[in-house]
Amino acid sequence: MNKILILDFGSQFTQLIARRIRELGYYSFILPGTTPLERIQDFAPKAIILSGGPSSVYEKDSPHPVAGFWKWLETSKIPTLGVCYGMQLMVQEFGGKVHPADRKEYGRMGVQIVKSHPLFSGITSFQAWMSHGDETDQLPNGFELIGKSTAGAVASMAHTTLPWMGIQFHPEVAHTERGTDILKNFIAGVSKLTADWKIDDIITSHIEKIKSEVPADGQVICALSGGVDSTVAATLVHRALGDRLHCIFVDTGMMRHLEGDRVMKMFTDELHLPVTRVNAEERFLSKLEGVSDPEKKRKIIGGEFIAIFDESAKGLESKLGKRPGFLVQGTLYPDVIESSPAPSGGTAGAPQLSHTIKTHHNVGGLPKDMNFKLIEPFRDLFKDEVREIGRKLGVPETFIKRHPFPGPGLAVRILGDITREKVKKLQEADEIFISMLREEGLYDKIWQAMAILLPVNTVGVQGDGRTHSQVIALRAVTSQDGMTADFYHFSLEFLGRVSTRICNEVRGVNRIVYDITSKPPATIEWE
Ligand code: XMP
Repeated sequence: MNKILILDFGSQFTQLIARRIRELGYYSFILPGTTPLERIQDFAPKAIILSGGPSSVYEKDSPHPVAGFWKWLETSKIPTLGVCYGMQLMVQEFGGKVHPADRKEYGRMGVQIVKSHPLFSGITSFQAWMSHGDETDQLPNGFELIGKSTAGAVASMAHTTLPWMGIQFHPEVAHTERGTDILKNFIAGVSKLTADWKIDDIITSHIEKIKSEVPADGQVICALSGGVDSTVAATLVHRALGDRLHCIFVDTGMMRHLEGDRVMKMFTDELHLPVTRVNAEERFLSKLEGVSDPEKKRKIIGGEFIAIFDESAKGLESKLGKRPGFLVQGTLYPDVIESSPAPSGGTAGAPQLSHTIKTHHNVGGLPKDMNFKLIEPFRDLFKDEVREIGRKLGVPETFIKRHPFPGPGLAVRILGDITREKVKKLQEADEIFISMLREEGLYDKIWQAMAILLPVNTVGVQGDGRTHSQVIALRAVTSQDGMTADFYHFSLEFLGRVSTRICNEVRGVNRIVYDITSKPPATIEWE
């Protein structure tokens, strides 16, 4: 396989480079910029990208590749592209000069190609996204100028004999015109690599890997949350191991209207997964009685989940006469990257070399002493790749496109304490809202939509008399990743119809409000 290595120096865009390359059909992987040479050699990259970063190359303690890296690069002749800070590392290493710019170049900037180079095949000038405080005022030995910014700064340079080149802008961000073409030119044109990263191959190789890692009598357990990642992970493992996989689905009672029944039907009828459903509504409700603090609710739900999972695993052990030794989790690549320490001053850390066992994803924190070996087939995949795998494995499209739903479920959408009656009220209102979004063709335009039950009673007039009933808030947001969000701009006419239906059909609700706050300053959930 043609593997592209990204050495990360802490840029907030490093993950984006990896994604763009995957979208082009190549396998990309991020390692910290200071990774030992043996590890880099072991990875056997066919091309290398040095990422941007927030540091200045001349600062003490700024991250640099390890000793021996450049020499190895020179002898191995691996094509290398330095992006922003990555380019400045080349400048400094080979005798050029980097200095603080008079004016920080930030935002869009015109770039003119002044010397033809395969990196810019078919491109002469374009708008690029810059984000840097340093610039190159003397090119390093052996390099020549390829592109200039409209402000006159070095925008691109390339070595005259070695396959090394640098760009001072970010090709990975959407604001850079032709950015993807430039990355493609680097990989296909300069490095002469063919795209060989295909979803079908990923599925086949993961199935083979799982088969070889789990011994013939090994039993595997998986906690299904009802979300896409754990469902696709379980489906893949099931393809590899059949009924040696045992799934547990804990219905907390805090799920959407009929959600437990709907996902169970899909698990069994469509995906044919071996699933045991644990109906634990009573347990969760009694533990949550009288609790209003959101963090306490989260803790109680997480703790109870673990207790139930533990009991189910023990039950399975006595049934099978053998303890399942493996646990499947749907951990994604961004989780792995984000949870690792960033290089000095960086914001987006690269994955650590050692395989840190994380158990808090999807299942709300399984205790370490459970002592399972983890099967995390998506540890180096992005969400859209997992969705694609899901489609190929027959997971229905409507399920794959579902809005994210928080682990603690409706418990964090019922503000204040939780009762069975409140859960029912919220489920009914939420079902009306979500089904109307689907009917109007709006569901897929929205990142996440929900109803929230407020702990406020207001006066209303319904039928013949006055009421003093609860308020429902509606929230719908657009977002790329849940980190920032904007409220969805519904027509008032649509909101009016949702409001009328909820007030007419849900007992104990007499007022509807729509949340028009973005994130930040608000969060997506209300608790
Ligand atoms: P916020 O409310 O922080 O949410 O803007 C961002 C995304 O995270 C989800 N979320 C959670 N997911 N457990 C989860 O599994 C939680 O405790 C939790 N809290 C928020 C939220 O639904 C949104 O998609």
